[in-house]
Amino acid sequence: MARLYLSPPHLSGNELGLLAEAIESNWITTLGPQVEEFELELAATTGAASVLALSSGTAAIHLALIVNGIGAGDEVACSSLTFAASANPIVYTGAAPFFVDCDESWLLDPSLLDEAIAARKRAGARVRAVIAVDLYGACCDYEAITAVCERHDVILIQDAAESLGATYRGAPSGTQAPLAALSFNGNKIITTSGGGALAGADESLVAHARKLSTQAREPVPHYEHTEIGFNYRLSNLLAAVGRAQLAVLPERIAARQRINARYRELLGDAPGIAFMPAPTDGTSNCWLTCLTVDPAAFGADREQIRLALEAEDIEARPVWKPMHLQPVFADSPIYGGDISARLFERGLCLPSGTAMTDDDQDRVVATLLSTRSA
Ligand SMILES: Cc1ncc(COP(=O)(O)O)c(C=O)c1O
Repeated sequence: MARLYLSPPHLSGNELGLLAEAIESNWITTLGPQVEEFELELAATTGAASVLALSSGTAAIHLALIVNGIGAGDEVACSSLTFAASANPIVYTGAAPFFVDCDESWLLDPSLLDEAIAARKRAGARVRAVIAVDLYGACCDYEAITAVCERHDVILIQDAAESLGATYRGAPSGTQAPLAALSFNGNKIITTSGGGALAGADESLVAHARKLSTQAREPVPHYEHTEIGFNYRLSNLLAAVGRAQLAVLPERIAARQRINARYRELLGDAPGIAFMPAPTDGTSNCWLTCLTVDPAAFGADREQIRLALEAEDIEARPVWKPMHLQPVFADSPIYGGDISARLFERGLCLPSGTAMTDDDQDRVVATLLSTRSA
């Protein structure tokens, strides 16, 4: 039986056609019609005024911080329960991160964020921005988070790397903050193999990011630079792959949501199993289906389950290890922390790839349940 991966790429069938178009047109660089079309199509999908295709979601977060003038001496709040790529760009700029726990929604806790920013300010910190992370396909409580940011006069950056196609109060993910980062990494709901984008309501910020992403070249015939730039653009070849993928996004979302609903149906009654709560003010794209395991009630712990799945060639992963527990961020302040620590200890992400069959899913469920008597 073939290995069942957590979230492998799922081709639409039109990737080769668009790639051939790109190659035949000789646009195989970081410029070209596929990049332009991909940006326009992403703007239409997200409703963002302006979109900049980039080499990664990490680059998008980095540029979002830079165009807001964040650098040495500044502090930036970040969700603790996330992938390190949400927080690393803070350090790239010379600013310092501090971390804020989630609440029982698994997403950034707005009132704790409020307290954390107030506490950092009392300690004399220059708090400039918040990076709110949409986890596993669900958007944060942006109404509350925006109010906190306004109260403290700090910038909000949306890390929407995992939430393309989700909605918050009827609006597509990627428009809940002035700038949002998207990712098309190989494990995401759609992929360019590797890539990302910066989506923004503020076209001048995106235009500045565009300039910075191409080595900050000034618009003159020779190479003239007045600021430090980066080589962060997406290749026209990868944009072709992205366009083929974006065309099937609605099907991919529907499939992930169906997989999520079926896991809930098949496992919802098992004692000690609790799923990541579904959003109450929007829809998740259900990028990954995640649950927690109470070992006393279930009869096996998260790691026993993960290893049993691995023995059956099924890839499952612990929920993100929170940033405040990462050795590299040991010196960064943390506000709260117990909830994300518990989610890490007990949380498991199940295979959620859209090419997965019901039989594949039944295999995951049977193996998971078989550990109860182990
Ligand atoms: C929450 C989160 N933020 C940022 C990133 C970074 O995206 P990329 O891998 O495209 O740099 C990812 C995914 O990899 C992610 O899951």
